[in-house]
Amino acid sequence: MKVVNARLRRRTGLYSITLQDERIQSITAQPQLCVAQEGNLDAAGGLVIPPLVEPHIHLDAVLTAGEPEWNMSGTLFEGIERWGQRKATITHEDTKRRALTAIGLLRDHGIQHVRTHVDVTDPSLAALQAMLEVREEARNLVDLQIVAFPQEGIESFPDGRALMARAVEMGADVVGGIPHFENTREQGVSSIKFLMELAQRSGCLVDVHCDETDDPQSRFLEVLAEEARVRDMGTRVTASHTVAMGSYDNAYCSKLFRLLKRSGINFVSCPTESIHLQGRFDTWPKRRGVTRVAELDHAGMNVCFGQDSIKDPWYPLGNGNILRVLEAGLHICHMMGYEDLQRSLDFVTDNSARTLSLGDNYGLEPGRPANLVILDAEDDYEVVRRQAKARASVRLGRVIMQRHPERLEYPQ
Ligand code: FE2
Repeated sequence: MKVVNARLRRRTGLYSITLQDERIQSITAQPQLCVAQEGNLDAAGGLVIPPLVEPHIHLDAVLTAGEPEWNMSGTLFEGIERWGQRKATITHEDTKRRALTAIGLLRDHGIQHVRTHVDVTDPSLAALQAMLEVREEARNLVDLQIVAFPQEGIESFPDGRALMARAVEMGADVVGGIPHFENTREQGVSSIKFLMELAQRSGCLVDVHCDETDDPQSRFLEVLAEEARVRDMGTRVTASHTVAMGSYDNAYCSKLFRLLKRSGINFVSCPTESIHLQGRFDTWPKRRGVTRVAELDHAGMNVCFGQDSIKDPWYPLGNGNILRVLEAGLHICHMMGYEDLQRSLDFVTDNSARTLSLGDNYGLEPGRPANLVILDAEDDYEVVRRQAKARASVRLGRVIMQRHPERLEYPQ
């Protein structure tokens, strides 16, 4: 199969992309628009990109908002309470059904790589078992990385360490953590040492919910970065949220940046979730409660955006569209200068792929998997400005989603 009349990022002109045996065979320049042959896909001058990536979501919690009660205050802490209620009624089938429904939404928006956190502070590890099955059943739609996520702590939850180790044995891909939620500062630090050790021993990646609080004294990021540096694991480690960095003073942050850069770790910001949940203890002026995305990026570090939630106890909106999160992130992080807009898709494609350590399994280059998405706009700027839709999604050379443009009518 061929995709013709494609525009590509960072290149001018039109291209044809030939797919063969689940791989990209060649990418060749086209002198002008051509007529697509039977069986080929016509990008019609639209941008063709490798699939969009969702680097941070909680598929075990999606589509549960309001069950049994709504989060009335909209706070993180009431969210954890509401989730506790919902968790009591969760079943294997319920988790799988909701996760698969959400994966369908992600597919519809051109996403094919997903990292989901799954709560493992449950002696039965039922949600993890369900998600391991989802990972297999949804293989034709997405590559799913599963994070063993200790929502209620590793040190602060009964048998927390054993549950993490068991989750890795069962097949989790990534080791998670939540140091700022542990009962004490010391437990936060020891939880990071434990989880890094577990990851190093098992060969898992690491993705820690780190400093998801406006408390400027929440400084577990430096512990995580130093552990990653000493163990030489930086590229395999991700710090998610790090919103306390939005409240650190500049003197501390400038010292911290030196360590972060040397560590080589990755960052995920969830701007819609954070702008909703953080700043809740402020009156006015209110902090944004988002990490320093532009500053990390401009300092040469790897940052990407994630959506975190789709209609769950913490965040009632969301529909699977990562471009909506990108648009919000660009606003919230003061990233709408000309140059930022020209490369805005980095934050939902290449940077995210690097966070997920996708390596040669990602990218539009001959020899790599024939995974791509056609967008309904010609460049990064127009994609984000017009909130372009994914027109088609191709996975291993097979079309898994095709969207036909909506038609407007104007009666006399
Ligand atoms: Fe999260």
